[in-house]
Amino acid sequence: MSYLFPTYQRWEIEPEKAAGAVIYGKDGTEYLDFTSGIGVCNLGHRPEAVETAVKNQLESFWHVSNLFPQSIQEEAAEKLAEAADLDCVFFANSGAEANEAAIKLARKATGRTKIISFLQSFHGRTFAGMAATGQEKIKEGFGSMLERFVHLPFNDLEAFQHEIGPETAAVMIEIIQGEGGIHVVDSEFLKEIEKACMQNGALLIIDEIQTGIGRTGKPFAFQHFGIKPDIITVAKGLGSGLPIGAAVGKAELKEFFGPGSHGSTFGGNPVSTAAASATMEIIFHDEFLLEATAKGNYLFESLHKRLGQLDIVKEIRGLGLMAGIEMTTDVQPILAALRKAGLVALPAGEKVIRLLPPLNVSQEEIEKAVKIIEETVSMHSITA
Ligand SMILES: Cc1ncc(COP(=O)(O)O)c(C=O)c1O
Repeated sequence: MSYLFPTYQRWEIEPEKAAGAVIYGKDGTEYLDFTSGIGVCNLGHRPEAVETAVKNQLESFWHVSNLFPQSIQEEAAEKLAEAADLDCVFFANSGAEANEAAIKLARKATGRTKIISFLQSFHGRTFAGMAATGQEKIKEGFGSMLERFVHLPFNDLEAFQHEIGPETAAVMIEIIQGEGGIHVVDSEFLKEIEKACMQNGALLIIDEIQTGIGRTGKPFAFQHFGIKPDIITVAKGLGSGLPIGAAVGKAELKEFFGPGSHGSTFGGNPVSTAAASATMEIIFHDEFLLEATAKGNYLFESLHKRLGQLDIVKEIRGLGLMAGIEMTTDVQPILAALRKAGLVALPAGEKVIRLLPPLNVSQEEIEKAVKIIEETVSMHSITA
């Protein structure tokens, strides 16, 4: 009997310890972790430099309230804004809260309420996050949603150009739809969105919650496309496992988030911001990101080589170290078999296996994971 609401379909593994790309189960079994806590532990489990930063902060203070200036927040905000080529940061505790802040800011700054987002997107579980999300199953049973969200087909330029106009407050988009099945945005589509936003006085909000903090080989995934958003939202990988989210915006938005306009008791908590600062210190370096890119290339090459010919595999897609393997069948039984074989991976929708290994995963770990996937998927290929 559990006292927890059964909101999660739990796996059969209870972790005892975790380090790097490995989770050690209480049953004594070792698992290669290609989930990174759903794109959170981008430096693997318990990276030493982050652990040290957290311990140091724990020894100075844990929480004082946002009424005090805190240089650790300033330090983390500077790293985040500089890496995104943006100017102002609001710290929250999660991805949904970061999106909530971005939506509030966009509505206030434009004086408009209509927001365009996309089918199959995922933007979080708060009411604004659910309203932005383009998946009906997320909203079922919760009654009326926040108004004036319009969901358009992803990568459909004609539908977009038909919808955007002088009433649009913002366009909210993921560069790679993570929960929705690892669908990468089309470059032309994204550039046209940027252009149309400028022409119509609408803000471009990029949800980098899953794609940010080095996941795709750049600090943020939008940087592959030569565009400049007005706001980005980040969370997940930012704190290496400590809860933190952020909305990062252009300087001209500063006046709309003045004192009393928005806030959060725990947002920018010093222990979490210390973890974020130490995480960014490692990830936001060309050398580190080039290595992550090389590992991503190796992962995709290996997946194509070992799985590309199997009937059960429909498509392999993604960017950097964010990979999706679309199958012709439901992936849940395959994911269960992968765990039995010592690899934890994620679904993205019903038919996609999602791989989010740590950015510092080793070549041997990639080889081991791909071998397990090949053997497991081949077995399902025969039985399918
Ligand atoms: C793209 C995207 N946006 C928002 C969220 C919500 O983040 P959180 O679960 O931290 O509220 C997620 C979480 O999976 C996400 O992938």
